[in-house]
Amino acid sequence: MARVCVIGAGASGIAAVKALDQAGLPFDCFEASDRVGGNWVFGNRNGMSSAYRSLHINTSRARMEFSDFPMPATYPDFPHHTHIAAYFDAYVDHFGLRERITFETLVTRAEPRPDGGWDVTTEPGGTRAYDALVVANGHHWDPRWPEPAFPGTETFAGVVMHSHEYTGEDPALFRDRAVVVLGMGNSAMDIAVEASFAARRTYLAARRGAWVIPKYVFGRPLDSLPTSAHVPIAVRRRVQAAALRVVVGDMTRYGLPAPDHPFGSAHPTVSDDVLSRIAHGEITPKPNIAALGERSVAFADGTEADADVVVFCTGYNVTFPFLDPGLISAPGNDLPLFRRVFHPDVPGIYFVGLLQPLGAVMPLAELQSQWICDHLAGRYALPPAAELRADMAQERAAMFRRYVASPRHTMQVDFEDYLLAVQRERRRGARRAMAAA
Ligand SMILES: Cc1cc2nc3c(=O)[nH]c(=O)nc-3n(C[C@H](O)[C@H](O)[C@H](O)COP(=O)(O)OP(=O)(O)OC[C@H]3O[C@@H](n4cnc5c(N)ncnc54)[C@H](O)[C@@H]3O)c2cc1C
Ligand SMILES: NC(=O)c1ccc[n+]([C@@H]2O[C@H](COP(=O)([O-])OP(=O)(O)OC[C@H]3O[C@@H](n4cnc5c(N)ncnc54)[C@H](OP(=O)(O)O)[C@@H]3O)[C@@H](O)[C@H]2O)c1
Repeated sequence: MARVCVIGAGASGIAAVKALDQAGLPFDCFEASDRVGGNWVFGNRNGMSSAYRSLHINTSRARMEFSDFPMPATYPDFPHHTHIAAYFDAYVDHFGLRERITFETLVTRAEPRPDGGWDVTTEPGGTRAYDALVVANGHHWDPRWPEPAFPGTETFAGVVMHSHEYTGEDPALFRDRAVVVLGMGNSAMDIAVEASFAARRTYLAARRGAWVIPKYVFGRPLDSLPTSAHVPIAVRRRVQAAALRVVVGDMTRYGLPAPDHPFGSAHPTVSDDVLSRIAHGEITPKPNIAALGERSVAFADGTEADADVVVFCTGYNVTFPFLDPGLISAPGNDLPLFRRVFHPDVPGIYFVGLLQPLGAVMPLAELQSQWICDHLAGRYALPPAAELRADMAQERAAMFRRYVASPRHTMQVDFEDYLLAVQRERRRGARRAMAAA
């Protein structure tokens, strides 16, 4: 029976561990930290968490929870990171998985063996052979700095940081300072809002506009409104765009740049607070940064502002430090995979959670893990190579056609559509496996 190595015990890794355990497949799971939960463990000892003290989920709890382990009914719709970390702890304890995970053990190297399978080296531990590798190392921990760096970054006399380093723990960081936050993703929204309550001035700089979506519409979490993969995505987007026009209105009315793309062509920027802080004059929108002075920032429209702190909320790199980049890497964050799980050329390696859903990661990681177990147990067979490549090419072409070109839009999936597509593919592959048996 295939012996499997799971790398990481964040939300994705514990979903994989649960599926492997329930499928009765032998495995080891190595986790660098002393606990499960990855990004959701504030101040995680692994140094990889991007959580800040005030972080709450922006996908509602009903959308985020695993299918067979609801979040406590006492949780709010958008729980705090401490709730989420506690939920993952409860999940592994409920299913008796904690003792199946080897903590404080970093995978430093994973190399294909000449006869198939993988040699996996851990610190501490040494090298062991496995038949298969499940990669669940997360993709929101390796900060992506502006590249090339803005002129003057080196000589700026204030504080320059990436959102990954921001913890919200130092009350002096923003107090009475002039703060420039760069980006229009969710990190930028949260950090600009937080800065705006302490800073002398807060600027929100962006190279393109975004449609800012509230967490609630019509008194319900936005992502809990009825939706279905059976309704064409273009129709769903038109309905959502119309709802947003009614509830929020024109972004330029708030002084934000007009989005250069239709609604639904960028990863959602969700914030209940940023538009209000802008409307109250506590956050000033600005175009992209052009250069940093000694204690100032020049913007692309020729304006300039004093600046003591610059926070780059410019996203994350997708990296696998334990893999030979000549074998597998993600230049520009792009790693083409069959339905975000199977590598087309390298057998015996599976990815879990390596996707950006419009919706939460966890239920998708759960389904991916069950699918991987099907394959490992011989209950699922991949399509023939030409068909697999054609499917990948079609999926990628549709994604790149729809989304703004950016390293943050290389693995976008629609929640319901992805679930449906994988369920269908599992059934197709089960029939192929039966036919081949
Ligand atoms: C600020 C922020 C807020 C977010 N909010 C949401 C949200 O509201 N909803 C949502 O669905 N998603 C959200 N995300 C996305 C986030 O990626 C997922 O919620 C979730 O953390 C993904 O889980 P994961 O297990 O794939 O990755 P991670 O949580 O990053 O976990 C990876 C685990 O792998 C371990 N690991 C990594 N490398 C090694 C190694 N070499 N050896 C051993 N162990 C290793 C790490 O220690 C870690 O425990 C957010 C991301 C950020 C940065
Ligand atoms: N639960 C929450 O509330 C919460 C909070 C924070 C983050 N998150 C999640 O964490 C993940 C990462 O979010 P993120 O906001 O950190 O990153 P992100 O979504 O990748 O956004 C990065 C932002 O920086 C901009 N940018 C990148 N490089 C730039 C450059 N060189 N110059 C100017 N602008 C640049 C991008 O613009 P372009 O679009 O033009 O590339 C984009 O606006 C997402 O999944 C997000 O949903 C969730």
